[in-house]
Amino acid sequence: MARLNLLEETRYEKLPVTVYSDQKTASIAVANRIAALIRKKTANGEKTILGLATGVTPIAVYAELVRQHKEEGLSFKQVITFNLDEYYPMQPNAVQSYVTFMYDNLFSHIDIDKANVNIPDGTLNKDEVTQFCLAYEQKISKLGGLDLQILGIGRTGHIGFNEPGSAPNSGTRLVTLDDLTRSDASRDFGGKSNVPTKAITMGIGTIFKAREIILMAWSQKKAPIIKKAVEGEISGDVPATFLQLSDNVEFVLDEAAASSLTRFNTPWLVKDCIWENKLKKKAVIWLAETLKKPILKLTEEDYNNHGMAQLAVEQGPVYDINIDIFNQLQHTITGWPGGKPNADDTQRPERALPEQKRSIIFSPHPDDDVISMGGTFIRLVDQGHDVHVAYQTSGNTAVWDDDVLRFVEFAIDFNHSAGEDTTKLKGIYEDMRAFMPTKKPNQIDTKEIRDVKGFIRKTEAISGARYAGLKDENIHFMALPFYETGKIKKNAVGEEDVKLTMELLQKIKPHQVFAAGDFADPNGTHIVCFRIVVEALNRLKATEAWVSDCWLWMYRGAWHEFETWEIEMAVPLSPQEVIRKRNAIFKHQSQKDRPVFPGDDAREFWVRAEDRTRETAQNYDKLGMAEYEAMEAFVRYHY
Ligand code: F6R
Repeated sequence: MARLNLLEETRYEKLPVTVYSDQKTASIAVANRIAALIRKKTANGEKTILGLATGVTPIAVYAELVRQHKEEGLSFKQVITFNLDEYYPMQPNAVQSYVTFMYDNLFSHIDIDKANVNIPDGTLNKDEVTQFCLAYEQKISKLGGLDLQILGIGRTGHIGFNEPGSAPNSGTRLVTLDDLTRSDASRDFGGKSNVPTKAITMGIGTIFKAREIILMAWSQKKAPIIKKAVEGEISGDVPATFLQLSDNVEFVLDEAAASSLTRFNTPWLVKDCIWENKLKKKAVIWLAETLKKPILKLTEEDYNNHGMAQLAVEQGPVYDINIDIFNQLQHTITGWPGGKPNADDTQRPERALPEQKRSIIFSPHPDDDVISMGGTFIRLVDQGHDVHVAYQTSGNTAVWDDDVLRFVEFAIDFNHSAGEDTTKLKGIYEDMRAFMPTKKPNQIDTKEIRDVKGFIRKTEAISGARYAGLKDENIHFMALPFYETGKIKKNAVGEEDVKLTMELLQKIKPHQVFAAGDFADPNGTHIVCFRIVVEALNRLKATEAWVSDCWLWMYRGAWHEFETWEIEMAVPLSPQEVIRKRNAIFKHQSQKDRPVFPGDDAREFWVRAEDRTRETAQNYDKLGMAEYEAMEAFVRYHY
C-alpha cells in the first residue's frame, strides 16, 4: 500500500507529488538529492547504485551533477549506474544511442569508472538477449538493488520503455515500442521509419525494487499523461499508474506538467479558493462545459453540486455571476483585431486609437502566421493597418530532399533557357545527388542543400503573405542564428538573436505585436522565438517610449489551443474568410500532404487549423454566444 495521503487538497492524487515553479529549479532539487545520497554513501564507505534515464527530461539534472562535480568536488568514483533502456538494435556509437546520450550528457564529464557504467546492449544477437537481460537483473540484485531510480514518462504513460500492456512484475526484457513513442523519437532519427521498433528495457518490477523512485516531468505536453498517472485508476494501459502501488515513489513536476491535476486545474473541487476574476471565469466556464449548458442557464444547484458553493455565497446570486461571465466572454469577441475606429473601446479587446496601427506578426517558422492567425492577418490588412510579418527562422530542416532536386532542376532549365552557362549549377546539382543517398538519419545537409531548403520556404512565405495582402517591403526574413544549425538540435539563444529582433522592432515601432505563444510545439522553436521577442521588448522598454504603448498578443499554432476561459480576444471568421485563410496556407507547398515534421497529428496543417478554429467557435456557441463559422483566439501577454 502506498504512503497515506492526509490532505484534502491532494485527495485525488494517489502518490506523492512535488511541484516546482520551473524545470530548472526542479532539476536542481533532484540533482541535490542524488548528490546528497552519493556523498552520504561514499562517506560510509558504500557504493551508490543509481538507475538512470535518458530523454529530454533528465538533461538539466545531469548538467547540475556535472557542475557539482566540477565546481564542488562531487565524486562519482563510488557510483555504479544502470540505465533503464536502449533501442534495439543499436550501435553504441550511433548519435541516437542512449550510450552516446549518457556519455554526452554525463559520463564524459565526471570521474565515474567506466567499468561501473551499465547500459543495455543494443548490439546483441536476438538469441543472446534473454540471457543478457537476466544477467542485468542479477547484477543489480547482487549489488543490493538500486538506491535511487530516476524516471521520465512517455506520452503513452511508459516508464523506461514499458509500454501500455506491460505487467507490474515485468523484468528486463526486449519490448516493442508503441507507435506514439516512435513518433516522438522520429525527430532524433530524421524520420519515423528510421526509429527502431524495439528496445531493451528494465521492467516495471525491476524499477519497483529501487529504494527510491523519482519520476520527473516538465511542460504542458506531459500534463494529460501526468493526470492519468497520478489520479487515474491503476491499469496496464498507463504503465506509470503501477507506481501508485509503491511506498517509495515521488513525482517531481514543473507547474506546466502539473497543470491538469485537480488541485491546479479545478481547485474549487478540493479546497476553498480566493475567487479572483480569472478563477471565477474559469470555474463558470468549466461548470457550463461540464453540464453542457449555456452560461445563463446555470443554477444555484449546479454551483452547489460542483464545488462552487463558496463562490455562490461570496459573490452570488448566481444569476449575477452568470451575467458577469457571459458579458466578459462576449467582450472578447471582435471583428476588429486592430481596434474599432470611432467606437467606445472600454469593453473591447483592442484600443480604438490610433485608428491605423502598425502591427508585426512574428512567425517562428515560415507558415505559422497563416496557419495560426491567417484570418486575423487578412482582416488587419483589409482594415488598413500597416501590417508587417517577420519570419524568425528559415525552417530549412523541414523540406524533403526531392523538393530540393526539383527546384535546382528548375533553376538549371531557367538559366539554360536564358542563355546562361549552367556548368557550375550542374556541378552543385550532381554533388547534391551524390550526397543525398549517403545521408545518415539526422545528418546535417550540405550548405547548398540547406540554402535551397530555406529558399523554398522563403518563396512560400512570400506567396502566403502576398496572398494575405501584404506589400513585399513589409515581409521580413530574420534567419535568427540560434536556429541555423542545420540540425534538429538548435543553438542556445544568443545576443545576435535578441539584437536582430530589437532592430526590427525599433524600425517599425509597432502598436501591436503578435507572437506564437504556443508552448507545446514539439520541437521547442516556438517558445524560444517567443522568449526572444519578450526579451527584445523588455530591453527596448528602458529607453523607447513607444514600447509602453505596444501590446503583445500571443496566438497559438497547429499544436495546441488556448482554453476558452483564457481567451482575451476572439476574432470570428466568416465562411469566406476561412477559405481565404486556407488558400494562404496552401501556398506552403513543401508542408503539404506529408510534411517532414508532422508531429503526432496525421492531419494536414490547414485541416488542423480549420478544425481548431471551428472548435473555438463551437465552444463559444455552446456557452451561449452567437454562432460563428470559426474563430481565432489570442491572449495578451504583459511584459
Ligand atoms: C528514457 C526512457 C523513457 C523516457 C520517456 C520520456 O530512458 O526510458 O521512458 O523517460 O520517454 O522521454 P522525454 O524525457 O524525452 O520526454
